[in-house]
Amino acid sequence: MRIAIAGLGTVGAGVIRLLDTNRDLIAARAGRAIEVVAVSARDRAKDRGVDIARFAWEDDMTALARRDDVDVVVELVGGSDGPALALSRAALQAGKGLVTANKAMIAHHGLHLAELAEGAGAPLKFEAAVGGGIPVIKGLREGTSANALTKVYGILNGTCNYILSTMEATGADFAEVLKDAQRLGFAESDPAFDIEGVDAAHKLAILAAIGFGTRIDFGAVSVSGITAVRAADIAQAGALGFVIRLIGEADVEETPEGARLLQRVRPCLIAKGHPLSAVDGPTNAVVAEGNFSGRLLFQGAGAGDGPTASAVAADLIDIARDEVGAPFSIPVAQLAALPPAEPGHRMGRSYLRFMVKDRPGVLAEITAAMRDGAVSIESLIQQGRGADEGADVMVAMVTHEGPEANVRRALDLLAGSDSLTGEPLVLPILAA
Ligand SMILES: NC(=O)c1ccc[n+]([C@@H]2O[C@H](COP(=O)([O-])OP(=O)(O)OC[C@H]3O[C@@H](n4cnc5c(N)ncnc54)[C@H](OP(=O)(O)O)[C@@H]3O)[C@@H](O)[C@H]2O)c1
Repeated sequence: MRIAIAGLGTVGAGVIRLLDTNRDLIAARAGRAIEVVAVSARDRAKDRGVDIARFAWEDDMTALARRDDVDVVVELVGGSDGPALALSRAALQAGKGLVTANKAMIAHHGLHLAELAEGAGAPLKFEAAVGGGIPVIKGLREGTSANALTKVYGILNGTCNYILSTMEATGADFAEVLKDAQRLGFAESDPAFDIEGVDAAHKLAILAAIGFGTRIDFGAVSVSGITAVRAADIAQAGALGFVIRLIGEADVEETPEGARLLQRVRPCLIAKGHPLSAVDGPTNAVVAEGNFSGRLLFQGAGAGDGPTASAVAADLIDIARDEVGAPFSIPVAQLAALPPAEPGHRMGRSYLRFMVKDRPGVLAEITAAMRDGAVSIESLIQQGRGADEGADVMVAMVTHEGPEANVRRALDLLAGSDSLTGEPLVLPILAA
């Protein structure tokens, strides 16, 4: 099987290295050799740590899709639109297979690309787009295919997980750990997509579509990132028996008006002892709950050249073996278009944190708002007064189980209060 690779960065060079290293076992498992014939990137002269002089070079990456000697195009450029999308469309329209690691592109244009693939009878695969080296798309498409999934959730962004678990281990604050993460290569120089939860949302939208057989709907994911989480929140959560992790979760809710899809990404408190609480550093983990399989946990390296190349090459082997189904598990025309769920009535416990002025009456004001919002407080911690007179103090509480909308209502009652010195932070507590 002859392939062309666009993008020779971390993942592209990793794929070439893997195909070289495991050449014989891949040929045996694929039933035929997988040969790179052509490549493209921006800079032909750049040293990539792998020999690319043996491959044909195209300055214009979409030319890869027009080559007669190419069966499958591998897109490892990145970006939801632009050259990656142009190349992907061209490859499928030419009837060539497409393998990509590009979660942003699949989250935004996955249905369109799947329609092109189905129309052309060409394979489209994107295992590396979610969870790096973890075969979670395969797990959901194949391993749990006989189940109705009740829920899929997990730690989908290694950068956020590295930052939160390092804050937990060192007590350092967000900005300091982010800087370290950038220095160590666990965070991009522009970390916005990661720390604001967008990257996790891309992956969640893909998992939800595959897990529930729904049309991918990235725009409906409700997203909040980790920038508001302070070291003090992590310490407080720890004292209460929890860790804080960025969690993406999706489920389908049956309502009298029909099924609704819930998709959200937000930092959550997780009880120590829950399988996700032990997931540290840049690791990713996905939990899928099937109605017959029970709870399954997929865990491993969520990024990096080796793990991501492993997922890309597994897709290539599937194509070489002719083991290819519909990209989203069922044909695009049969995917359900579900409106987003309104989760306000859902029951749960929350951690709430307020920064307040250190003066009499503030605590009474907060607890009155909780009472009027019908939020029942399980525990309340007021941080001791600091050395500086007049400095802000932190008030944290954990609520009893109640409807999510009540917490929102109580916070609305506090909006504009001059006792608060910043936006309150609300972190849901993940159910066991
Ligand atoms: N890195 C990971 O661990 C990881 C994990 C899972 C998924 N992914 C996904 O894999 C994809 C690639 O990621 P990466 O980390 O390998 O990125 P990267 O290291 O930045 O590499 C990107 C490659 O694309 C080429 N490129 C970028 N813009 C181009 C353009 N306009 N025209 C031609 N070539 C262009 C670059 O060429 P030059 O080298 O010549 O500049 C480079 O070789 C992305 O979709 C990413 O989300 C990455």
